[in-house]
Amino acid sequence: MRKLVIAISLLAFAGSAAYADPIKDRQALMKERGKLAGQLSKVVKGEEAFDAAAVLTALKALEANAEKFDAEKLFPAGSDKGDTTAAPKIWEDMPGFKAAGDKFLADVKAAVASPPADVDALKAQLNTIGGDCGACHETYRIKKG
Ligand code: HEC
Repeated sequence: MRKLVIAISLLAFAGSAAYADPIKDRQALMKERGKLAGQLSKVVKGEEAFDAAAVLTALKALEANAEKFDAEKLFPAGSDKGDTTAAPKIWEDMPGFKAAGDKFLADVKAAVASPPADVDALKAQLNTIGGDCGACHETYRIKKG
């Protein structure tokens, strides 16, 4: 029992160190991204009412998320191995990968700087932002299954 407790606290410690596991860290960042984009897409689809304040809150959270994207720290050499769908192309073309991350950040910043006043405006912004997700995944992520 005592051993188990020690093992668990060691695990907890490893998990709290910054970038201890870059694969887990980047996947957690992407999961949050997916959740936020999902919230916004519900509004675009009419599944949730348009609420300008709530939409701006989600866009700001997406901006904070995009700012945390540090390609070199989250995708260090060697982290192509393991439970990851990161494609080898990332390490073959790090500048292109970074540029895709920068474009995403710029488009999210632009949306926050001119918050959508209605569903149509949000739809246009989400098309651009969603296009950035898709474009990066298309080139730099391996499709599973
Ligand atoms: C600059 C490139 C890039 C952009 C932009 C990007 N992604 Fe990703 N995404 C990746 C890569 C690379 C992975 C694979 C990470 C891994 O498995 O190590 C990934 C994985 C994911 C995953 C799976 C995470 C998991 O648990 O395995 C989700 C969900 C996701 N992205 C959602 C999004 C959404 C939504 C957006 C846009 C709002 C987005 N991504 C924008 C590169 C990007």
